[in-house]
Amino acid sequence: MTGTKPRVAILISGSGTNLQAFIDRHAGGNLGADIALVLSNRADAYGLVRAETAGIPTAVISHKNFDSRESFDRAMAAVIDDARIDYIVLAGFMRILSGWFVNRYLGRTLNIHPALLPLYPGLDTHQRVLDAGDRHHGSTVHFVIEDLDAGPCILQGRLPVAPSTDASELANRVQALEHQIYPESLDWLASGRVAFEDGAAVMDGKRLDAPVIRDF
Ligand code: GRF
Repeated sequence: MTGTKPRVAILISGSGTNLQAFIDRHAGGNLGADIALVLSNRADAYGLVRAETAGIPTAVISHKNFDSRESFDRAMAAVIDDARIDYIVLAGFMRILSGWFVNRYLGRTLNIHPALLPLYPGLDTHQRVLDAGDRHHGSTVHFVIEDLDAGPCILQGRLPVAPSTDASELANRVQALEHQIYPESLDWLASGRVAFEDGAAVMDGKRLDAPVIRDF
């Protein structure tokens, strides 16, 4: 499924519903990049089945076989570079990346975090939103920098939080909007519409001091 478009590697650790969204959009001819590699740190990640079903090359590199974060990351980079990858998409990849890896692919790596960053970096975002009584929640696509969940934000999907909702319902709604905003963000990056310059996200030549917000 590869051609002349920029080549993206999607890094996963689990179910890969976001990966599936990229696969579906590519199958529909609407993704501005080719998925050239799916890389997992877990051999049992269901996302690997999704990739294989779609005919995408896969690789499994277990972090458990390495004695440092950086040596694991260097093994991943060897596979990524061998596949001539232009962009990296983290889609439920549950390892913290070393500074070495982040800087090697700086400006070319995206993450999606299930919160309206800078609110709620870290885990358990849905429950934390409910505990705080927030009226809005969502998910953010951002460039990856060394600090966790802290890179320049590109696109946010936002939804209202119903008073009667629970964390799992909220998680499902957030995940559904992720499947739209993540492929769209990659398109912006792959087409050059969005770029990383001087530590900031730039869109259409203008610095993005706040992400584009899409309401769902
Ligand atoms: C997503 O909700 C994303 O926000 C977070 O990890 C989850 C991955 O889910 N970073 P999936 O594996 O794509 O289903």
